[in-house]
Amino acid sequence: GTVLGIEGTAWNLSAAIVNEKDVIAEATDIYSPATGGIHPREAAQHHAKYASMVIRKVLEGAKEKGVSPSDIDAIAFSRGPGLGACLRTVATAARTLAITYDVPLVGVNHCLAHIEVGRWKTPARDPVTLYVSGANSQVLAYRMGRYRVFGETLDIGLGNAFDKFARSAGLTHPGGPKIEQLAKKSTNYIPLPYVVKGMDLSFSGLSTAATEALKSNSLEDVCYSLQETAFAMIVEVTERALAHTGKSEVLLAGGVGANMRLREMLDIMCNDRRVSFHVPEKRFMGDNGAMIAYLGLLMYEAGDVLSIENSHVNPNFRPDDVDVTWLE
Ligand code: ATP
Ligand code: FE2
Repeated sequence: GTVLGIEGTAWNLSAAIVNEKDVIAEATDIYSPATGGIHPREAAQHHAKYASMVIRKVLEGAKEKGVSPSDIDAIAFSRGPGLGACLRTVATAARTLAITYDVPLVGVNHCLAHIEVGRWKTPARDPVTLYVSGANSQVLAYRMGRYRVFGETLDIGLGNAFDKFARSAGLTHPGGPKIEQLAKKSTNYIPLPYVVKGMDLSFSGLSTAATEALKSNSLEDVCYSLQETAFAMIVEVTERALAHTGKSEVLLAGGVGANMRLREMLDIMCNDRRVSFHVPEKRFMGDNGAMIAYLGLLMYEAGDVLSIENSHVNPNFRPDDVDVTWLE
C-alpha cells in the first residue's frame, strides 16, 4: 500500500508518502516562535497557512518518483497527544484529502508512530522504547495487545525542562542542543534533585533547581549536572523496564535522543545488561511525517480506519489506550 501521512502535534508540520519499502517523499515546514516557547495558537495558524503548500510539495516529490495521487490508499494524521489547536488544523487537512481522493482516513497515535518508525528503520523487533521529546517522556514496551507505559513523567517532558532552564539562562530556543554543548566543557557535578517515584519521573523541580544553581555556579557546571541527573533518571527507569519485561532491545525515540551523552549512557547500560541498543537516523527520531504515514500504512493494512464522523482528535491521547491491530 501507499499512504500519505501528516504530522503537526506541535511545531513541526510535516507530510510524507510511504510504502512498505521506504519513504517516497517528505515535505516539512517548521514553526519557530520569535520569542520564548511554542505559542499554541500561533503554531496552529502556522500549520493552517502552510498545510496546502507542504501537501503540494510532498505530492510533487512523489510524482518525481512515479507515484501519483491515484496511487494513495489512505490518509493518516496524528490524532494526539499534542496541542489541541494544532491537532484540529491537521485533522481538517487530512479529512479534506480523504474526501478529495475518496480514500480511508487513519488516526495515528503520535507516540506509537515514534516506536513503529524505529522498528521499521532499525533492527529492533520487540524493544523497550525510551521516548524523550519536548512534551513527552515515556518508557514503553509491547505486552498482550498493547504498548504499555512502564514509566513516564508526572509533570513536564525532559525537552521542555531543558528548554525552560535554557530560557532562564538566556539561551535561545531550543535549549537542549545548547545545553549539550555547554555540558561538554565541565566535569564538575553539582548535586541536583534526582526524582524517580516508583517507575515515574519528575523534571519540573529539577529544571527550577538548575536555574537556582546558576546563582552560585557556572553555566557549564549547571548544564553538565542537569544532563547527568536527568539522564541518570531516565536510564534507571529504562533499565528497570528491561528487567521487568525481560526484553533484550532498547530503542531510542524523540528529539532529546539527538543528545550524544544520553546515547552514551544508554549504550553503557545496554552493554552491561547484554541487550542491544538501537538509534534511528536523526530524521526519524524527532517529529516527522514519515512516522505518521508509516504507522498509518500498518493500520490501513490491518483495516484499522476511521469514518470522518469519528475522526475527532485527542490532545491527551495515550499510547496504552490503543489496541494494537497491526502486529500478529
Ligand atoms: P513531541 O510533540 O513529541 O513532544 P517535540 O515537538 O518536542 O515533540 P522533538 O523534535 O521530538 O519535538 O523534540 C524537541 C526537543 O528536543 C526540544 O525540547 C529540544 O530542546 C530537545 N533536543 C533537541 N536536541 C537535543 C539535544 N542534542 N540534547 C538535548 N535535547 C535536545
Ligand atoms: Fe514526538
